Amino acid sequence: MKKIIKNGTIVTATDTYQAELLIEDGKIAQIGTNLSAIGAEIVDAKGCLVFPGGIDPHTHLDMPFGGTITKDDFESGTIAAAFGGTTSIIDFCLTNKGEPLKDAIQTWHGKSKDKAVIDYGFHLMIGEINDKVLNELPQVINEEGITSFKVFMAYKNVLQADDETLFRTLVTAKEHGGLVMVHAENGDVIDYLTKKALEEGKTEPIYHALTRPQELEGEATGRAARLTGLANSQLYVVHVSCSDAVEQIAEARSKGFNVWGETCPQYLVLDQSYLEKPNFEGAKYVWSPPLREKWNQEVLWNALKNGTLQTFGSDQCSFDFKGQKELGRNDFTKIPNGGPIIEDRLTILFSEGVKKGRISLNQFVDLTSTRVAKLFGLFPKKGTIAIGSDADLVIFDPNVERVISAETHHMAVDYNAFEGMKVTGEPVSVLVRGDYVIRDKQFVGKPGSGQYLKREKYSLNTLLNQNETLSI
Ligand code: URP
Ligand code: ZN
Ligand code: ZN
Repeated sequence: MKKIIKNGTIVTATDTYQAELLIEDGKIAQIGTNLSAIGAEIVDAKGCLVFPGGIDPHTHLDMPFGGTITKDDFESGTIAAAFGGTTSIIDFCLTNKGEPLKDAIQTWHGKSKDKAVIDYGFHLMIGEINDKVLNELPQVINEEGITSFKVFMAYKNVLQADDETLFRTLVTAKEHGGLVMVHAENGDVIDYLTKKALEEGKTEPIYHALTRPQELEGEATGRAARLTGLANSQLYVVHVSCSDAVEQIAEARSKGFNVWGETCPQYLVLDQSYLEKPNFEGAKYVWSPPLREKWNQEVLWNALKNGTLQTFGSDQCSFDFKGQKELGRNDFTKIPNGGPIIEDRLTILFSEGVKKGRISLNQFVDLTSTRVAKLFGLFPKKGTIAIGSDADLVIFDPNVERVISAETHHMAVDYNAFEGMKVTGEPVSVLVRGDYVIRDKQFVGKPGSGQYLKREKYSLNTLLNQNETLSI
């Protein structure tokens, strides 16, 4: 069925203009005015913005972590994502040492296949490097279309990899066209500080933050960036939370290193004091890296504005307060790390960023969609509004005011980290490949309709914006 979207304001990473969009066979077929409407369903976007569907580069759905499993799976998680204006996600596929990579990937296909309502791809965790892993990686890239690899520098004795693994992953990624992602915190020192805190009887949630100081994020970010320079490779730093890490990314980029960075909603609007909420409520705000002292927020906003950070992910990793976060009542190290964010990612950046004049509307689209597509091999199929691109579109009311709440959200968890926050802007309708998933704020999609995304290799030429160099 053809559709014509009329009366909306089209917004891409570079332009804002009035036009109509003709959608045919799931793709954008024409952009113009007075398009022929014969046989087409008319979609009235009056008063709304029309932008490319959000691409969330950082989700953990149905993932075993912290002694439990994330509450949102590929069905509830992608439905919530769609309500929030996200039309594709890239989820982290965990691997186990000694296990063939293809087995881990099959497990993730099993979790997602009949459940996802939006399109999805996978990043692959690299926990060890040996001949078996090295032999499998080209196949993972070329056949599975998985072109990004995650190395954890923290979570000692669980997910953490050593520097040799990181360096050899960087070298291999360079050779085969992959992008290496790091969780950058110094896991060894954190392990020492957490043990010491527990020995001293410090068990409350606030000690999660106090045992992971921001110097340790800065140190790991700088180390990963230097190893990237040495390997002449490419690096993407996930969930940047503080000035120490921003400084390291800026320095690496000023040297011309291929280093990119992401931040997330929680680091822009919440801060360390939330971990001190009474009655163990602080556990709701346990992320790694932890929420930081408030002054870091301005540094992050500036980094988004000036291009030191290029993407905005959710780090969706949801756990119920009851029964899951509560696992750490007597020991903060047992609180599962992470929170429910997938649904509110776009609205928070729009409301706090665009509406408050911190970033432009076009930067908003770049951060939430276009640059993600370029970095992770999805552009121009995804991440823009152009003839031939998938018709992944958000019709967004930029003026509606609402209050974020667990009472009304669509994630499967019993709290919302942004409870009570007043925001402006909300998706009205969301289309994936031309089909409604959300129509007039109602879910009309179908579990299993999301398609697996095989992604292209990393390409610096694709992802630099016009007139942009790595040095800033
Ligand atoms: O606390 C977090 N960030 N949980 C999700 C796992 C990770 O480190 O990204
Ligand atoms: Zn992480
Ligand atoms: Zn994460």
